Amino acid sequence: MALKITVIGTGYLGATHAAAMAELGFEVMGLDVVPEKIDKLRRGEVPMYEPGLEELLRRHVAGIEGSTGRLRFTMDWAELGEFGDIHFICVNTPQRHGEYACDMSYVDSAIASLAPHLKGPALVVGKSTVPVGSADRLAAYLAEHAPAGADAELAWNPEFLREGFAVQDTLHPDRIVVGVRSERSEKLLREVYSTPVEEGSPFVVTDFPTAELVKTSANSFLATKISFINAMAELCEATGGDVAKLAEAIGHDDRIGRKFLRAGIGFGGGCLPKDIRAFMARAGELGADQALTFLREIDSINMRQRGRMVELTRQALGGGAFLGKRVAVLGATFKPDSDDVRDSPALNVAGQIHLQGGQVTVYDPKGMENARSLFPTLGYAGSALEAVRGAHVVLHLTEWQEFRELDPAELGEVVADRLVLDGRNALDPEAWRRAGWRYRAMGRPGA
Ligand code: UDX
Repeated sequence: MALKITVIGTGYLGATHAAAMAELGFEVMGLDVVPEKIDKLRRGEVPMYEPGLEELLRRHVAGIEGSTGRLRFTMDWAELGEFGDIHFICVNTPQRHGEYACDMSYVDSAIASLAPHLKGPALVVGKSTVPVGSADRLAAYLAEHAPAGADAELAWNPEFLREGFAVQDTLHPDRIVVGVRSERSEKLLREVYSTPVEEGSPFVVTDFPTAELVKTSANSFLATKISFINAMAELCEATGGDVAKLAEAIGHDDRIGRKFLRAGIGFGGGCLPKDIRAFMARAGELGADQALTFLREIDSINMRQRGRMVELTRQALGGGAFLGKRVAVLGATFKPDSDDVRDSPALNVAGQIHLQGGQVTVYDPKGMENARSLFPTLGYAGSALEAVRGAHVVLHLTEWQEFRELDPAELGEVVADRLVLDGRNALDPEAWRRAGWRYRAMGRPGA
């Protein structure tokens, strides 16, 4: 009999995972505790912007014309427990307010709500990013609270999807990592992932702590690469070097690699910043904080870039206060191809300049609604051209393709002063200079 899969939590991770599981041929039921989310998903609407996800969802959600009907949504734990053989926990683990540690309350309450409804044999699989040691604790909880006949087991299967590439990363992952305690769990997870494994995704079987650590260490490594290149950008600025050339040159060494070496205003979003902080907090609890003191520096280099961008803007405008200066900001999301503005470096820079008296106008292709609700006092425009009109300086802060394709000559017609600062090192300096702009970027010699 074909496996039936449930997905608990239908945010970024859960909505994508549920649709991907249906795409792989399984019968899937998703659960969320927020009724509006469930209503939207039942209509085949995605609660956030993610390329390809809506199409994938609509292909499978029951009740949508022409769909396979393999994907359903519920808010009822009993229905979910009755339905599923394998239950994926995909709820979020945000940073605790005012602390570094991560908030496990959504994971804990998902397991607590699910446990009494499990029917045997059941496998509960954690996908959320959690502090190492959580799986151990949750397995003990399940053993105590699942019905005796449910024969419930836990496994840990971290998720590495990137926003903007969520569908591709879920259907064709770089690797699948499973932390298991029994052959039965491993066998079931091999069955779930048989298609991507046949297509070449490596399948790494390990214990609980290693599976949990793979996720946090991968994110720490990525954050380290970005802060490393941003530190080099500071050195380039101090010496007249060019960080873009430097990144290209060191990236040719296979051991270093070219990816994640784009200098600029640094990393943000719902994952990297909070994951490295939660990792440090957990190391402290384990008495291993010295091993991760370097992450404190990674975090502080990262946060410093936002202030450096503000200073670069101030200097480029001739120094002094921002009062009376019109500043166009291109980009609000923490990265392109997403509408996510959580801990967005772009909005942080825009907000700082606004607080210092600058008249800021923001445009973003997909993040306007979220940006407006987070920073209602900033100015907003309906297009890049409109944002730029009359500006004394243009800041490029999120590297959308739309901004790469802008015509600098056309924009040059509507500005007070042709001055562009590239906070993402992603525009073509020569094209902008040819159109009469002063182009400056972080870590590069400027005009
Ligand atoms: C990240 C991890 O990549 C992913 O594997 C994990 O599952 C979740 O966290 P995501 O948050 O979607 O994914 O974004 P990512 O593509 O990693 O970018 C993070 C931030 O780093 C963005 O703000 C991006 O602009 C910035 N970045 C990325 C740089 O500043 N320079 C780079 O070279 C690359």
